[in-house]
Amino acid sequence: MNVTIIGCGYVGLVTGACLSDIGNDVCCFDVDASRIAVLEGGGVPIHEPGLREIIARNRTAGRLSFTTDARTAIAHGDVIFIAVGTPSDEDGSADLQYVLSAAREIGRYMEGFTVVVDKSTVPVGTARRVGDTIAEQLALRAMEPLFSVVSNPEFLKEGAAIEDFTRPERIVLGCDDDVPGERALETMKRLYAPFNRNRERTLHMDVRSAEFTKYAANAMLATRISFMNELANLAERVGADIDAVRRGIGSDPRIGYHFLYAGCGYGGSCFPKDVEALKRTAQESGQALRILEAVSAVNATQKRVLERKIVARFGEDLDGLTFGVWGLAFKPETDDMREAPSRVLIAALLARGAHVVAFDPVALGEAKRAFEFDLRGDDDALSRLTLVNDQMEAAQGVDALVVMTEWKAFKSPDLRSLRHLLKRPVIFDGRNLYDPLAMAETGIEYHSIGRPS
Ligand code: NAD
Ligand code: UGA
Repeated sequence: MNVTIIGCGYVGLVTGACLSDIGNDVCCFDVDASRIAVLEGGGVPIHEPGLREIIARNRTAGRLSFTTDARTAIAHGDVIFIAVGTPSDEDGSADLQYVLSAAREIGRYMEGFTVVVDKSTVPVGTARRVGDTIAEQLALRAMEPLFSVVSNPEFLKEGAAIEDFTRPERIVLGCDDDVPGERALETMKRLYAPFNRNRERTLHMDVRSAEFTKYAANAMLATRISFMNELANLAERVGADIDAVRRGIGSDPRIGYHFLYAGCGYGGSCFPKDVEALKRTAQESGQALRILEAVSAVNATQKRVLERKIVARFGEDLDGLTFGVWGLAFKPETDDMREAPSRVLIAALLARGAHVVAFDPVALGEAKRAFEFDLRGDDDALSRLTLVNDQMEAAQGVDALVVMTEWKAFKSPDLRSLRHLLKRPVIFDGRNLYDPLAMAETGIEYHSIGRPS
């Protein structure tokens, strides 16, 4: 099939690469010329394990191309995926300007019957708006509205995106209940058939339910995390160990083990904005989602949990102290710094007068951009932040080491050498990577989340 992808970010690139890998002819379009230049030069603008190899082999095979030319890209696709960003608007709702701009381009240049796929995470009712926008453009060209808009939300996780896309638990297809909708459904089923190993994974439903499903999934996952974080804080007060509790409750299949890890708050490009957008949808329809109000409030507090522990240990004023930070990305195996808890922690330490030396295995470039943005206008704070290329350099001679992301490289350091590297043997661990007993035996003062110190 001829497939077009609009938007070459995490979702667009993974979708385009994986669909070309099963034999489709895929053209990826982005308005960001520098991003397309990197891709055309054989590079990949994001860090996602396995993506580079898939892109390379399909470019070589002539099945995957990149362009900034909307006309070429849109005329190419029988199926056109919209995979552009839907960031939070000022009021928390999803900002649909990029989605609707993509829809306009589709209406301007599409030829023949086209399946338009909303892959971006968009609020209920967006497929309708996308359809209306395309139809307006087609009317200007005096063309028949020969298209159908399918809602096909994406559930991949950064860092495991290729695996998630090619071995999905489900493929949600929200289609209209009319002749073009049925034709679109058949096309989408054929397109996804190679990913339906062993059992049928497509879930066919109406468009609005498909749109809602995506927000419901992210809201449920964010709720689990905030709930565990609150339990972790209580566990500290009552002398319980949240990790033992996690195992205890996770063994019940009705609860399950996944997404029960307490930590220093959830980040990333999606949970925070999608929780806000769903709250906004609820408000607009006259209902409050009270649980979700609490979920985001708990998360905002949890992002400061290590700051609170550091202040309890060292006092409000951190002037003259240096903190090492391991991990900047919002999670391992990605360079994505969007809403990363490290941004909140580091800004707080700098505001209290501290120096910070930070390391991340892949996110240093993104981190530099993020901190220059966060600390714009505060040159003094920025001058006290040093990003280093070496994990041990971020621990050398510091007053305390803070772990913010659970990269594999951080999981089993030689504790004795580490102890000697630190000026003071103190570790604050936002991801519960280490065994408190081993820490105590090595003589390291250890503060983690929801476990006895
Ligand atoms: P991203 O910010 O990484 O990439 C978006 C890309 O779209 C950018 O390269 C941008 O230049 C491009 N773009 C913007 N407007 C355009 C236009 N009119 N025409 C062509 N290109 C345009 O975004 P992302 O993280 O890939 O997320 C995309 C969507 O998928 C969002 O709605 C997000 O919520 C959803 N989603 C993301 C993930 C994830 O893990 N990142 C997972 C599931 C769903
Ligand atoms: C999340 C969802 O897991 C995907 O299904 C979804 O497609 C995606 O959002 C999206 O809509 O964009 P992602 O943000 O890539 O994926 O990463 P997650 O693995 O979900 O982690 C999100 C945050 O939650 C991270 O900061 C992580 O550290 C935190 N987390 C995760 C916890 O604190 N505890 C856990 O048990 C799991």
